[in-house]
Amino acid sequence: MSSIDNAPGDFADWMGRIQQATETALAALLPDASIAPQRLHSAMRYAVLGGGKRVRALLVHAAGELVGASPQRLDRLAGAVEFIHAYSLVHDDMPCMDDDVLRRGKPTVHVEYDEATALLAGDALQTLAFQVLAEAPLADSLADQLAMVGLLANASGSRGMAGGQAIDLDSVGKQLSREELEFMHVHKTGALIRASVLLGARAGTPMADDDLRRLDHYAKLVGLLFQVVDDILDAVADTATLGKTAGKDADNDKPTYVSLLGIEEAHRLARDMLADAHAALAPFGPRANRLGALADYIVHRTF
Ligand code: IPE
Ligand code: IPE
Ligand code: MG
Ligand code: MG
Ligand code: MG
Repeated sequence: MSSIDNAPGDFADWMGRIQQATETALAALLPDASIAPQRLHSAMRYAVLGGGKRVRALLVHAAGELVGASPQRLDRLAGAVEFIHAYSLVHDDMPCMDDDVLRRGKPTVHVEYDEATALLAGDALQTLAFQVLAEAPLADSLADQLAMVGLLANASGSRGMAGGQAIDLDSVGKQLSREELEFMHVHKTGALIRASVLLGARAGTPMADDDLRRLDHYAKLVGLLFQVVDDILDAVADTATLGKTAGKDADNDKPTYVSLLGIEEAHRLARDMLADAHAALAPFGPRANRLGALADYIVHRTF
């Protein structure tokens, strides 16, 4: 990678390119809406395409570039992670969970289609993610590829995202301790973001153990940071900017970093964690500029 490619000013260009490549990859990996069952396939495409910041895909690519992974592998890994993420959003919005009607500026899947279709679209997106990991080489050995499948499964299941969502639902109306809140956020959101970084980092030349540990530390920090900022935005941004209903956490009586610490302290925590994330990347030097810029984006984003 040339130093010009990695210059800070090029970050916005790079981001646009990866977002576009991700959109193309996702559209190609999804079943066509003309294939039966059309309504289910249409709902899956509706849930995934035409929106979303693609932060997880960007993290896959930025980490993958550190190890010289091919864009083809990274597009596929990014697709798998974005499918899991989209599925989690479809279910998160359902009446039995957060009961939201707006997502990415459009009606949620259960509103646009129906609840049963939303449930099935989420199910099918989840299995599609693993199909995508199984159907092409993504690592130099089958053992490494198997480890990637395990990594995504772990991050998505009861010890990852789904587990965090269960805690979230169980926490409605409760006051959590700082430790409990962190545990919930690390699982419901942090796990998949961490997995995005680690999957990218496993798609190329194997990293030294020390480097992998530093990268994992960064990945854990940005994973938690992402949800801290999501909590802040829910409290301070407006619905039009967010593309989802603002103020939902307070309405649903959810414990968040804002309800626990207040806006100012939540901001301070986000700034401290951002500094720690940059410190974790420092030994990589300019090679990790994009991961650093992504951490900045995660904190300073407006939606
Ligand atoms: C929203 O995630 C749900 C959380 C895990 C906080 P994003 O903010 O990444 O949603 P999109 O993909 O950009 O719509
Ligand atoms: C969602 O957290 C985490 C997921 C696993 C989907 P939120 O419920 O805060 O996400 P938003 O605010 O609805 O996007
Ligand atoms: Mg939720
Ligand atoms: Mg929600
Ligand atoms: Mg939220």
